[in-house]
Amino acid sequence: MVTEVLEVTMKQNNMFDIHNIRKDFPILHRTVNGKPLVYLDNGATAQKPKVVIDAITNYYTNQNANIHRGVHTLSREITIAYEEARKTIQTHINAQHAHEIIFTRGTTESINLVAHCFGKINVSAGDEIVITQMEHHSNIIPWQQLCEEKQAVLKYIPINEAGELVLEDLQKLITSKTKLIAFTHISNTLGTINPVKDIIKTIRSLSSAAVLIDGAQAVPHLKPNVQDLDCDFYVFSGHKLFGPTGVGILYAKELWLNKFPPYQTGGGTIKTVTLEKTEFADSPLKFEAGTPHIEGGIGLAAAIDYVNRIGLDAIEAYEQQLMHYATEKLLAIEGVRIYGSAKYRTSVISFNVGTIHPFDVGTLLDKYGIAIRSGHHCTQPICQFYGIPGTIRASFAFYNTMEEIDLFIEALKKSIRLLS
Ligand SMILES: Cc1ncc(COP(=O)(O)O)c(C=O)c1O
Repeated sequence: MVTEVLEVTMKQNNMFDIHNIRKDFPILHRTVNGKPLVYLDNGATAQKPKVVIDAITNYYTNQNANIHRGVHTLSREITIAYEEARKTIQTHINAQHAHEIIFTRGTTESINLVAHCFGKINVSAGDEIVITQMEHHSNIIPWQQLCEEKQAVLKYIPINEAGELVLEDLQKLITSKTKLIAFTHISNTLGTINPVKDIIKTIRSLSSAAVLIDGAQAVPHLKPNVQDLDCDFYVFSGHKLFGPTGVGILYAKELWLNKFPPYQTGGGTIKTVTLEKTEFADSPLKFEAGTPHIEGGIGLAAAIDYVNRIGLDAIEAYEQQLMHYATEKLLAIEGVRIYGSAKYRTSVISFNVGTIHPFDVGTLLDKYGIAIRSGHHCTQPICQFYGIPGTIRASFAFYNTMEEIDLFIEALKKSIRLLS
């Protein structure tokens, strides 16, 4: 009943029509273990709308050629399409220049690229890098490795019980030796939306450190405005934004890209090569060695156009309704503990039920066609903070429905009965 009222209200408010949206995602109509698929693992990867699948099929059916290096029609056409895709991403995140958008393999590679290049020109023994206790391993390990290599110091902004960053001590953490501060826009485990703009403002008032934002979990829910945020780097993956796997984005301010050495070298990165030496091209080519994931870039632009047609404000409003509905239903189950109760959260819920192991719940839910994630979600320091091995994580996208949450809750109750 509540479900129907909410959906009718959304429709009346012209936000979006969930039933039509679901028709855009072919995979949502399959069954798993004889039950309709209920896909609640969007934090791991999102499903793809038909327009994205069609863009990739069309590339191989009608456009396949290599970019940047050919004078023939196919090569010229696909070069234009690939560079148009770059511009779509530039516009979406409001970067000043298209050459500030670097195609990578994903968030992880984007962070590795920055750690490598920034480390080469700007980090020496005794320097400091600051990250947080809520980072995904992809935004921890590259900095640990860099600090180890350079004998620099890695410091952490702690979290509190609610899963929010403790920002009161920022003045003590950031010193004249701080070279870079990297933190996530949204926590993949706790759903916390960090006050990125305010944090960057504070950082700017305290030091000249560069700022990297991990936007992997933010871009499916909101539109980052990199100029307004005033970050130096913003990174994300295509596959969490309803686009293809194997493609991601590094946004970097032009001043850094001019200073950075290449990350990988080879074909496509050069102005001239002699037997003695190489003169490198400007960004973005300098950072895109070898044949790129051409259909990935084109598919990602199609995904961005798609979410923009629906509207990220409407998406976020609907997902908030899903999250509140699911939270209420979960908390009504005896023994459920939700981790993360930040004031601003997105549609990710991590929880445990008594002492039942998250993997057991995940395995049983799968029998009912429910896809959730169980484990540490590549955030072991968060699990260590709460003293748990992992959590059960349900993460929602705009194609999920209240009925699916009801199915999830019913299946969860049955699983708990079997496991208790
Ligand atoms: C916050 C965050 N950062 C980084 C990553 C790594 O993304 P990818 O595996 O696409 O490189 C993830 C993936 O779950 C994430 O949630």
